[in-house]
Amino acid sequence: MAIKTRFTELVGVEHPVVQGGMQWVGRAELVAAVANAGGLGFITALTQPTPDALRAEIERCRKLTDKPFGVNLTILPAINPPPYAEYRKAIIESGVKIVETAGNKPQEHVDDFKANGVIVVHKCTSVRHALSAERMGVDAISIDGFECAGHPGEDDVPGLILIPAAADKVKVPMIASGGFGDARGLVAALALGAEGINMGTRFMCTKESPIHENVKRQIVENDERATDLIFRTMHNTSRVARNDISRQVVELERSGAKFEDVRELVAGTRGRVVYETGDPDHGIWSAGQVQGLIHDIPTCAELVSRIVTEAEAIIKGRLARFVV
Ligand SMILES: Cc1cc2nc3c(=O)[nH]c(=O)nc-3n(C[C@H](O)[C@H](O)[C@H](O)COP(=O)(O)O)c2cc1C
Repeated sequence: MAIKTRFTELVGVEHPVVQGGMQWVGRAELVAAVANAGGLGFITALTQPTPDALRAEIERCRKLTDKPFGVNLTILPAINPPPYAEYRKAIIESGVKIVETAGNKPQEHVDDFKANGVIVVHKCTSVRHALSAERMGVDAISIDGFECAGHPGEDDVPGLILIPAAADKVKVPMIASGGFGDARGLVAALALGAEGINMGTRFMCTKESPIHENVKRQIVENDERATDLIFRTMHNTSRVARNDISRQVVELERSGAKFEDVRELVAGTRGRVVYETGDPDHGIWSAGQVQGLIHDIPTCAELVSRIVTEAEAIIKGRLARFVV
C-alpha cells in the first residue's frame, strides 16, 4: 500500500513526507537519509558558506542516495544579502531538479528555475502569498502554519484554518507544514486538503540529523509550550526553542529593545554553536510546538515508514469505522 498524491507524482517520490530547509541542519547526510526513506529532503543552500561549497554538498548527497532530493533557497531581507544569483546558478548547474524557495519576492528565482526545468515548491505562511506564488508560476505550495519552527509570518493563523483556507483557493498541489510529526498529522493534512506534509523539527530529532545529541534529547524533553516568538516587535517573527537566550530577547523586546540591542544575543553563529556543542542555552535555535509530539530519536527510515504505515491504518481502520 502507498499514499499517492499529486505531490508525490509531481516530485517523483514514494511518500508524501518532506523535510524542509533547515539552517545548519539541512545537510547531505540528513537529506540523503530522507530520500532513501522514500521522502523528499532539501539541502539548505545558505548553510553552505559559498556557492561552490553548495556544489560540493550536492555532490556529497548524490554519493549517499540515488533518489530525488532538492535544495532550499531562503530569501531573507538582509543588509548584506548573500549572492543569491550565484547560489541559484550552483543549484541549476548541479542538475538539481527540485527547489524549495522561501521568503520574500521569489519571482526572479522562480523565473530562472522554471526556465531551467526545475520544479519549484514555494513555502509561505498566508493564502495571499500562496496565490501570488502560484501566479509567479511555482509548481507547488508548502503552506506553513503558525505552529511552525522558524518564520510563521505575522498573521498568526494556525494550520487548522490556514490549510483548508489555502486549499480552497490554490490550484497547484499543496503540502501542509508546521506542527506535523506523526501519522495523525499526515491524515489530518490530507483531510484538510493538502497532498503531503513538510516537517522541520521532527526531522531535526532523527539519528541522521547532523546536530549534537543533547539538542535532540532536549527536543524530546520539551513539550508543546517550549517555544518563544522572538522579533515580534520587529515584524519578523521567529519561533524558537525556549531557552535562557530566547527569554532574555522576549523580555528585552517587551521593554522596547531594538534589533541592535539584541543583535549579539541572536547571532546565527551562537545558534550554530548550540548544534555543535550541545549546549541548548548558548544561542537561539529554531524548534516548533510539535516538540510536544516528539518522544524518540528514530532513523529517518523508521520515522517515514512509521508515519506512512500508521496513516494507512488510520484511514482504513479508525476513520473508515466512523462511516456507517
Ligand atoms: C532548525 C530549523 C531551521 C530552519 N531553517 C529554515 C531555513 O533556513 N529556511 C526555511 O525555509 N525554513 C527553515 N525552517 C523551517 C522548516 O523548513 C519548516 O518549514 C518548519 O520547521 C515546519 O514546522 P515544524 O518545525 O513544526 O515541522 C527551519 C526549521 C528548523 C526546525
